[in-house]
Amino acid sequence: MLILGIESSCDETAAAVVADGEKICASVVASQVSMHAKYGGVVPELASREHLRAIEPVVDEACRQASVNLHDVDAIAVTEGPGLVGSLLVGLVYGKALALAMKKPLVGVNHLEGHIHAVLLQNKIDRAAGKPVAEAKVPAVTLVVSGGHTSLFRVATVIPGAGAQRARFEYQQLGHSRDDAAGEAFDKVARLLALGYPGGPVIDKLSQFGDPLAVDFGHIKMRGNPLDFSFSGLKTAVLYRVRGTELAHEAEERQAWRKTVQRPTIDELRGHCSQATLDLVTSFQHAVVQDLVQRTLAAAEECGVEDIFISGGVACNSLLRRRFAEGGKGFHVFFPSLALSTDNAAMIAAAGYYRLLDGQRAGIALSPHASFPLGTRP
Ligand code: KG4
Ligand code: ZN
Repeated sequence: MLILGIESSCDETAAAVVADGEKICASVVASQVSMHAKYGGVVPELASREHLRAIEPVVDEACRQASVNLHDVDAIAVTEGPGLVGSLLVGLVYGKALALAMKKPLVGVNHLEGHIHAVLLQNKIDRAAGKPVAEAKVPAVTLVVSGGHTSLFRVATVIPGAGAQRARFEYQQLGHSRDDAAGEAFDKVARLLALGYPGGPVIDKLSQFGDPLAVDFGHIKMRGNPLDFSFSGLKTAVLYRVRGTELAHEAEERQAWRKTVQRPTIDELRGHCSQATLDLVTSFQHAVVQDLVQRTLAAAEECGVEDIFISGGVACNSLLRRRFAEGGKGFHVFFPSLALSTDNAAMIAAAGYYRLLDGQRAGIALSPHASFPLGTRP
């Protein structure tokens, strides 16, 4: 089954052609990151307009790279939410129009479900290529960690009813961020220190040069559900260490310097950072990663699963990958490639494949949802 996936929930316009939920024939991502960089974050109105401009060329390019004609596609899977409504609307209306015009089945996919399926898709690709990796199995605990979300899920398959041929994926939310998502905290700290946007990749790279134990942020304490997250306190702790100090003055100078250079290299940026700034961001990253790892391992222990899946933009973080590689406590921990960790449409097509097999079809009434919970909640 050849599925055209479409994703436009935030600031990436993406289309992909995926065969049988396991082989990527093409995956095209048009990132708007440089456009939003000068504002230090995503500007929703600009994002919608850019999606409108990019959607057709991106879908065309995916078909061209996959050497398929739109008539060859068996079904269309499109992100339904959560995300920016104006952005979602562009991909969704485009997908609906294609499905109607070409008389193809259409299915809506939850963006978070897409991130989870990125892990399973990667695993199938690796195993088909003969890589010596274990099979990613459910039930598993999944951490979806990005600029918009930090959530833990238990994912499992169930047979929906007597006589059913196919298993259906089921999700149970175990915890979520009560305030900032982890990626959002990276972006806000980078903005505070005038390090650029998006903040995650910059802080990740600068953290090679700092001391992770220079600033002790302590453990993040949670009242109530211990599998929930909260990163706004950490972000404020960084703010207090900067405001009214030499570090604030240094950030102002860096801001002025950054206006004179287009895209500074990490070495150039490092050249404009004091050791105290490097130590602060390195300690901040250490604290975020420590918290993500501890709560994810606690969730896996509580659920009694063997497999852990990590996905979303922050899954690109090198320290997070290292920590799980070192201290997976006997769990099998799976990450997608960097390209499948950040927003893409291959993950939407892969997740849509299982919904289509399950007989699910969306009609003309399919509409975008800014908030779109996945699965059951505690
Ligand atoms: O999944 P994604 O592409 O979009 C959302 O659904 O949000 O994630 C983008 C987020 C941004 O906040 C970015 O700063 C963060 O992922 N990110 C990272 C790294 N690469 C991207 N955070 C930490 N370390 C990284 N290496
Ligand atoms: Zn995402």
